[in-house]
Amino acid sequence: MPDRGEPPPLNSLAFDASVRIPVPHLRADPSALVPKFRLPYLASSFRSSLPFLQMPKQVLLCPPTHFDVSDHKNPYMSGKSSVDRAKAQQQWQALCAALEDAGYQVETIAPMPGHEDMVFAANQVFVGFHQGIGKFIVPSQMVHPSRQGEVPFYVDWYRRRGFKIIEVDLGADYLEGHGDLLWHPGWSRIYAGYGFRSTKSGVEKFRDAMSKLEIPVIPLHLVDPYCYHLDTCFCPLNNEAVLIYPGAYAPESLAALRQFWKRVHELTTDEAHKFMGNGIVANGRYLTPHITPHLEFIFREEGLAPVIVESSEFEKSGGSLFCMKAFLP
Ligand code: ARG
Repeated sequence: MPDRGEPPPLNSLAFDASVRIPVPHLRADPSALVPKFRLPYLASSFRSSLPFLQMPKQVLLCPPTHFDVSDHKNPYMSGKSSVDRAKAQQQWQALCAALEDAGYQVETIAPMPGHEDMVFAANQVFVGFHQGIGKFIVPSQMVHPSRQGEVPFYVDWYRRRGFKIIEVDLGADYLEGHGDLLWHPGWSRIYAGYGFRSTKSGVEKFRDAMSKLEIPVIPLHLVDPYCYHLDTCFCPLNNEAVLIYPGAYAPESLAALRQFWKRVHELTTDEAHKFMGNGIVANGRYLTPHITPHLEFIFREEGLAPVIVESSEFEKSGGSLFCMKAFLP
């Protein structure tokens, strides 16, 4: 099996996946029971189930074999390791299990020594699909030298699987993949955060490249250092509804993004800074590291079943569930 890292195959994980937990939200933790929802059961409460039909079925992750917190790239990082490695491994496997349980095939890329953030598989490239050219990637130019070296490994992984590579000549600018670049469901438009990692002109250069494919790009200026990537404060729930943290945006950007959604749900500061907007929408579920009654209400409104997947070790590095995967078209 190519590209599998050290961990045991997922189907050898020791938990019973057949028992349903009778609580409103569910714990995806190897020591707990992972639920088996059947889609028809969930579908009855869906407001709009159509976008999920367009969702990708494969997802790429990187095992946290070499994961560590060794420097200070964002306000969540202490600069020295307090990572519980066994727990990190367990949480990563629980995330893989929760994705598989939601119907995705999990692919992995081999973790490389010396690349402590390689586990954040959302950042090294932007992954897309276009009717004309098919599946493509745009390689990132990452801000931190320790992360720049991750990019070639990912580009190579995608190249070998037939993805077209669109090189944007970024010059001295930065662009950090799905940390800052998020699709509207259905590949119709891209939201592009800038200000902390991706630069404004990096996003503009990306927009010019996408305009050749007639894909509109909406630049969004980020202003809260705790929301240094767009994926910490912006999460499309379906074609019509988005979850955002308004405090993360410059006023014009907040006004601009509202135009594209019928329903805009707002996270509190505490919810946002605890990565509750960095969840994964997965076939009618919302995988999230934490939950509040306020968010439970929103997810119920949108027909999503929250599933708790703990990510405490990765939060020490300033990332959570969304950052740890890339959906593949
Ligand atoms: N330590 C990593 C960094 O600062 C965390 C990246 C989290 N990724 C994300 N998409 N928010 O680059």
